[in-house]
Amino acid sequence: MKDGLFSEHFSVNAQGHLALDGLDLVGAAQEFGTPAYVISEDAVRGQCRAYMQAMKDAFGDRFKVSYASKALCAKFIYPIVQSEGLHADVVSGGELYTAMQAGFPASKLHFHGNNKSDDELRQAVDCGIGAVVIDCMDEIGRLNAICGQRRRRIPVLLRIKPGVDAHTHEFISTGHNDCKFGFGIEDGQAYEAARLLRGCEWLDFCGLHCHIGSQVFLKEPFGVAADVMIRLLAELRRDGLDLRELILGGGFGVRYMPEDRPVPVSEMVSYLGDAVRQSCRMYDTPLPEIVVEPGRSIVCTAGVTLYTVGSVKAVPGARTYVAVDGGMPDNPRFALYQAQYDACIANKAAQEKSEIVTIAGKCCESGDLLGRDMHLQPAQRGDVLCVFSTGAYTYSMASNYNRLPRPPVVLVSGGRAQVAVRRESYADLVRNDLL
Ligand SMILES: Cc1ncc(COP(=O)(O)O)c(C=O)c1O
Repeated sequence: MKDGLFSEHFSVNAQGHLALDGLDLVGAAQEFGTPAYVISEDAVRGQCRAYMQAMKDAFGDRFKVSYASKALCAKFIYPIVQSEGLHADVVSGGELYTAMQAGFPASKLHFHGNNKSDDELRQAVDCGIGAVVIDCMDEIGRLNAICGQRRRRIPVLLRIKPGVDAHTHEFISTGHNDCKFGFGIEDGQAYEAARLLRGCEWLDFCGLHCHIGSQVFLKEPFGVAADVMIRLLAELRRDGLDLRELILGGGFGVRYMPEDRPVPVSEMVSYLGDAVRQSCRMYDTPLPEIVVEPGRSIVCTAGVTLYTVGSVKAVPGARTYVAVDGGMPDNPRFALYQAQYDACIANKAAQEKSEIVTIAGKCCESGDLLGRDMHLQPAQRGDVLCVFSTGAYTYSMASNYNRLPRPPVVLVSGGRAQVAVRRESYADLVRNDLL
């Protein structure tokens, strides 16, 4: 079963069961029930360290690695990333609240969002947010007024569309021009926003931000985006603006399928370092503080989801459906992007993957699949299915569709498992139903 095992964190134990950091995943399914997300703390820490080291090598002491909370947002993640020296970004009042409840320092948070409400802006200013990334014209005046009422000056950055095609799925590519995020350069919007910011007494315009897309496997789009951003940064600096920070976003690709070959973090960041320095030389401007915002690549491959197989249905002339006790409510990525996964029957991990099957969820939707034509060991009712690389954009995207309670998040640290987020109960499902 070696081909499907993604990292040194997985092994097959003496019982022939799949283990994550030494934790028997069949035993975990019995103990915590299914579906359940299981996350390796060591794997998360390993990714944090890889980014911190690579950024130090590339940029010396002037850099930040900011964890993109949206990939996996729950209280337990914040002390982990904080202790590894990361900052974090949030995109809503809810993410901000979660980070604050976890004791994450507000000064190490960036606040994103293309439609921040006044309440969210007040919440950010009142907690002492590190910076707000401004995404639309009217936000400038609204935020300046809120800060003025409190007589508190805060750092802000402008989100820019660098107009880069990141060669990724249309829905997760956010750097091109026809996109709801940020200000365009060609159309003059970025300059207009910069002009407005100059007149804002309570906003310290300190930098620029871009994010070109997600699950990007090429280095070049990041280099092109960095060049566009540094050209703009240099131009605005020549106009007298003191821009000190450049956030180049996240989006670094990860391995979902055995054949995926993402660029290693050290290689990607080293490339970025060369590209940034070259552009700074070309536009004759000092190196700003460089920030990256990885989300998926911090948590994705650190996590698996465990399910119990409920039925195996061979449809003559079509395909074999292996149905599990979760589906699109705990992982909507197949329904959204036709995302593919690799999986394994955890209690048959030592066996060959001799079948090709489609994994179906239990919802009333034909599109409720977790993957089509996947290689798998022969499945039968009662087996424990483990879907790999599900640490990112699963729990954080989960819903209660068909009134399925959200699964727990189990954190494995040094072979010991703890429930980090409790499974929702049926009582939780009706808690807010008033009539
Ligand atoms: C502004 C911003 N930064 C960072 C990220 C994180 O991207 P990823 O999880 O692919 O690294 C996103 C994802 O959508 C984003 O919108």
